Amino acid sequence: MTTDPHPWAAELGSLHAHLWARLSRGVHDRHAPARHPTLATVGTDGLPQARTVVLRAANAHTGTLHLYTDRQSAKVAELQANPLAALHVWDPSAHLQIRIEAQVAIQTGADVANTWARIPEPSRYAYSSTATPGRPIPEALAYTKTPDPASFALLCLTVRAIDALHLGPDHRRARFERADDWAGQWLVP
Ligand SMILES: Cc1cc2nc3c(=O)[nH]c(=O)nc-3n(C[C@H](O)[C@H](O)[C@H](O)COP(=O)(O)O)c2cc1C
Repeated sequence: MTTDPHPWAAELGSLHAHLWARLSRGVHDRHAPARHPTLATVGTDGLPQARTVVLRAANAHTGTLHLYTDRQSAKVAELQANPLAALHVWDPSAHLQIRIEAQVAIQTGADVANTWARIPEPSRYAYSSTATPGRPIPEALAYTKTPDPASFALLCLTVRAIDALHLGPDHRRARFERADDWAGQWLVP
């Protein structure tokens, strides 16, 4: 008899705990799948937009996630117009898809000064006052990036719901909602 490699998928409580553990691993391990989730927003033209980001913090207790971005990037304008977003992770070794629905708060300036102070110098070039992401340029390298704390934004995602799909020997799917204190509900996969 083979032992179940994913015993955490059998119960709603352990599945919920495990998906947060996988998210947390993404924050601390640059090779973990949850390191690079896909963030989906609603474009200002109403069309969906998705892009890879780095997961910077995951707090299971508060149900919050942190991302960093350039304040001038399109996603910030999109989130100002519509603060709802989705975050997607496919974790192959856990056979686990995690789909998150969240309300996003955009934090800038003095509110993120402590966070900016902890960002290593080379990484600060991603947040620049001299080059707006997505602006047309005449040649591929016709831009200069100058780190600027005023261009740094922290996206704080307050998770509203999580849809977890586990593709083990049996397929299981569950939805967890903040509104019912994350009790969870099994769904047809
Ligand atoms: C591996 C990888 C990691 C990335 N991490 C981030 C990130 O943490 N924050 C971010 O704003 N963009 C990140 N990007 C760039 C985005 O995918 C995207 O190209 C950029 O943010 C502009 O998106 P927008 O125009 O939709 O705002 C990353 C891209 C890759 C390929």
